[in-house]
Amino acid sequence: MTTQRQVILDTDPGIDDALAILLAVASPEIELVAVTVTGGNCPLEQGVENALAVLDTVDASAPVVPGVALPLIRPPFTAPETHGNTGLGNANLPAARRNPAPDHAIDVIVRQIMEAEAPATLVAVAPLTNVALALRREPRIVERVHEVIVMGGAFDVPGNTTPLAEFNVYVDPHAAYIVLHSGLPLTIVPWDITSKVLLTQEHVDLLLRTSSPVTRFIADATSFYIDFHRQYFGYAGCSINDPVALALAFQPELAQYTDVFVDVEIDSPKSMGKTIADVQQIWKRPANARLVTSFDDAAFLALFMERMTHLAQRHPGPV
Ligand code: RIB
Ligand code: CA
Repeated sequence: MTTQRQVILDTDPGIDDALAILLAVASPEIELVAVTVTGGNCPLEQGVENALAVLDTVDASAPVVPGVALPLIRPPFTAPETHGNTGLGNANLPAARRNPAPDHAIDVIVRQIMEAEAPATLVAVAPLTNVALALRREPRIVERVHEVIVMGGAFDVPGNTTPLAEFNVYVDPHAAYIVLHSGLPLTIVPWDITSKVLLTQEHVDLLLRTSSPVTRFIADATSFYIDFHRQYFGYAGCSINDPVALALAFQPELAQYTDVFVDVEIDSPKSMGKTIADVQQIWKRPANARLVTSFDDAAFLALFMERMTHLAQRHPGPV
């Protein structure tokens, strides 16, 4: 057995965040050391409850750690049209059996990176508020973290939240600016890539062949999410953005990358949160991120389906 990659998953659960949590639990290559939460798809308190309830469906004990509720400067901005009023679409999970961890996400991110024997990987699939404030709390995480994988940004495609900006960056562009200019070893997987990784109703129907609260949850959560993507983008399935980012923590070969200088707009109201990759090196700034330029959607979806099926088989039950 290769050594497990210790992963902190920073989330705003959210349907695809929930799928990333399930994929982390289902993947033996990963030790999910903490699920930290911030406001985003739904308010912080709801996100914390959602993360606990999703982990309960697979009897997972990873701590769920509340973080910062609001963006650094901009007003709160949630996505009920995308994730439903509960944040988990049409899913109706039992109330969480556990309480949130008594710590704060910023302290857990710093401690896990600075004190753990093997430097952790931070997978950030939410607005970057917790990550930015962890940097302010302890700048030395830059030297010790193994890698920071960020699902965020839209570069050569329209945004999914404004005509230019992707949700995670748009909700807290100032946090994204701090992260981009911090020196963290960043891998960025943008909406350009993840929007094309579609879980379809056919995938869900295949998963439902295994009777389990896991497959019931996936079906109920994604029924809402698929409808949203069909209505708003004309997609034939739902973009499972966050599991894509998580998979890069243990299967980086699924993607191809380019090292590039990336920045974010924080001054113009119209282009607020727009991410820019200076691929022509016009600004002559050193690369600050490894940007995913292509991704093996089919190989990832096969991995996701296999891992979800095996997870469901380990947690049988009526659907
Ligand atoms: O733009 C997609 C991202 O924003 C995903 O992480 C989704 O969960 C939302 O947080
Ligand atoms: Ca998310």
